[in-house]
Amino acid sequence: MIALGSDHGGFALKQEIKTYLDKQGIPYRDFGTYSADSCDYPDYAKAACTGVLDGSCEKALLFCGTGVGICIAANKLKGIRAACCSDYYSAKYTRLHNDANVLCLGGRVVGAGLACELVDVFLHTDFEGGERHERRLQKIEQL
Ligand code: RB5
Repeated sequence: MIALGSDHGGFALKQEIKTYLDKQGIPYRDFGTYSADSCDYPDYAKAACTGVLDGSCEKALLFCGTGVGICIAANKLKGIRAACCSDYYSAKYTRLHNDANVLCLGGRVVGAGLACELVDVFLHTDFEGGERHERRLQKIEQL
């Protein structure tokens, strides 16, 4: 199960990604927002990330205008490793090296085609593991 969350700036892209996930047969839970009306991205970062932290969702996809604000908010939650990506390499390596559990996308930055590619590689790339990456993640946890 994949958790989804957005503010109004990411709402349209979230809808595109829902269509993509439906086609891929990937189940998701949408924690809102449910319209393009103005709202506050921290509320939806918290809601969707709670789905990851309580174990009901394996990862989350978050959306705002830039992807940045909702990423900053998500990373305030202990246990969340959120990455804001607009290129394929970063979306892949944040899984391989950072074991990121949240991908943040900017609805005013990336188009739907690229966003689908970013989601695809993020969801289908495993953490590489290994002592050096584990050590660095532990250091992040201790910050
Ligand atoms: C909302 O206008 C916008 O500030 C928000 O979606 C996001 O881009 C913030 O980082």
